[in-house]
Amino acid sequence: MQLTRVPGLLFGGDYNPEQWPEDVWAEDVRLMSEAGVTMATVAVFSWSRLEPREGEYDFGWLDRVLDLLHAHGIAADLATATATPPPWLVRTHPEVQPVDAAGTRLEFGSRQGYCPSSPVFRAATTRLARAMAERYADHPALAMWHISNEYADHTLECFCDESARHFRAWLADRYGDVAGLNDAWGTSCWGQHYTGFDQVAPPRKAPGPVNPAQLLDWRRFCSDALLECFEAEKAVLREVTPDVPVTTNFMSILPGLDYWTWAAAEDIVSDDAYPDPADPASHVAVALSYDLMRSLKQRPWLLLEQAPSAVSWREVNVPKPAGMMRLHSLQTLAHGADGVMFFQWRQARYGPEKFHSALLPHGGTATRGWQDTVGLGRDLANLAEIAGTRTTADVALVFDWNSWWGLAAPESMPSNRLDLRAMLQAWYAPLHERGIAVDLAPPGRDLSSYKAVIVPNLYLCTDEQAKNLGNFAGRLIVGPFSGVVDEADRVHPGGAPGPLRDLLGVSVDEFWPLAPGTAQRVRFADGATGNVHDWAEWLRVDDAEVLARYDDGDLAGRPAVTRRGRATYVSCLPDDVRPILDPFLAAAGVEPVADVPAGVEACRRESADHAYLFLLNHGTAAADVTLRRPGTDLLTGRALEGRTTLGPRDAVVLRTAR
Ligand code: GAL
Repeated sequence: MQLTRVPGLLFGGDYNPEQWPEDVWAEDVRLMSEAGVTMATVAVFSWSRLEPREGEYDFGWLDRVLDLLHAHGIAADLATATATPPPWLVRTHPEVQPVDAAGTRLEFGSRQGYCPSSPVFRAATTRLARAMAERYADHPALAMWHISNEYADHTLECFCDESARHFRAWLADRYGDVAGLNDAWGTSCWGQHYTGFDQVAPPRKAPGPVNPAQLLDWRRFCSDALLECFEAEKAVLREVTPDVPVTTNFMSILPGLDYWTWAAAEDIVSDDAYPDPADPASHVAVALSYDLMRSLKQRPWLLLEQAPSAVSWREVNVPKPAGMMRLHSLQTLAHGADGVMFFQWRQARYGPEKFHSALLPHGGTATRGWQDTVGLGRDLANLAEIAGTRTTADVALVFDWNSWWGLAAPESMPSNRLDLRAMLQAWYAPLHERGIAVDLAPPGRDLSSYKAVIVPNLYLCTDEQAKNLGNFAGRLIVGPFSGVVDEADRVHPGGAPGPLRDLLGVSVDEFWPLAPGTAQRVRFADGATGNVHDWAEWLRVDDAEVLARYDDGDLAGRPAVTRRGRATYVSCLPDDVRPILDPFLAAAGVEPVADVPAGVEACRRESADHAYLFLLNHGTAAADVTLRRPGTDLLTGRALEGRTTLGPRDAVVLRTAR
């Protein structure tokens, strides 16, 4: 289901009119129109205003807000308003508030204070969602439903008795009987054999490390429990407004929720992204998230929140320097977004976010921020035709939440320094630097459209996933500590790489984590050397060619990087993966979308008739790019060909014929 009610690219942000006297609203919508805003996200935290007492609704103010927006041609991304339960609910039903792992029930006074398993909370949210849907089903401003807000931001898990009951039911459903649970959790270890589900509890604070299989199922359960909350509201919205698309805003690459599963339940994927302006490489980290968002449903997605300048929740909140707000916005489009929205429209006067930047700053229309807002509105209008266009990638990075969760089990791994996000970034950054389009893919997805697939890590690998990778006909790289355990965190018979052994032609004799700060050298067949960090393995080669060997220390002379046919195994974490990546890409026939100097990002979107090349200069000096084909820069209307200079933090969106 697509968002069809708003043509072109979406532009706007969270709008919290309830924080302002009503006479300010007229100015809001007038300035929104002036800036070219097409959509506003409303009512995200409005539950206590919309339902001030149980079952008693006050929709009048929201009616007037939606009418005003519509009168100015602005659509609503209308929240179901269930992100923060109101005080009356919390006081009449204290069990709605979440409990932490040590058993403390959290207080009211912030936001997102709810137990995902609470039947009272769920009943109250679906009742409000129904009231909202019935009230606004026919309102012409309604373009999209926004369920709750950033699930798992503050509340990912609750350890209360109700959650325990829910967890047991989830386990009974998964394992059938307690024998199945004992088997999966390996409860013969440390004397944990259960004789009834009623003895099982969430992984509350215990004297020592908790069973890692229990932790893994808890992570799955917590993702599913919140998803049930989303789906319960969605079912109501579908019933009342079957044609209105539904989303909930994701939080980029987040450890808590399995977005592959979540995206399948959404009509449109949307994301919130807050790259740190103080980090000169933050655009690379967010690019990976944006590629994930596009890959989740293999379709355009929406950026629902970013900061126009500084946020308010870091230790030091550095503003975005001149040009960065525009450049970062264009970057989301380059990676497949069909809309650029912000938190928030008007800068707050009070509350925790009063110093968070906004499209309309405290200083009003005289400010630098307002100039940026108006400028971006113009840019987005000029780019309207890219809405709906697609990205084709030759490379996929395989990524799975189950491995992320498995790797994170405390006090039971060879090393706690294996961070899946960092392992993804290590391969992604040089691909990004080279202007190579990358999708992300879950390990079970059909990979046949790609020329090259990189699996930075697949600690948890099922037989089916191994078969899927084995069936892939292109070039494959598998990173270290992969194929180690099955879906229940049990080591595969014979050890790593388990079901990937035939594909890779190697066996891991022993994991060889490196002490913090230790450098281990590897030497490639051509004599070149490089360092690896944190991780190495004592490998036995069964049937593979050795591409690089460990060069010093206890592993000196042993294989480090191997290849069997099309499949390369990297048993370590290289400081620089390029000596492995470059020949691999060449052999796979993968080409960049443009030839770009360092600091210039290149991405391509395509329609049936046109290609749109985004060139984004993240550097603070001018950069030259030689265009392969002539075209028109949609941002300026200029015809460009050959050598083109991009100013600092400037961009080109070149339309060429296909
Ligand atoms: C998001 C949240 C918004 C706002 C924003 C500030 O996490 O969804 O409501 O708080 O952060 O950066």
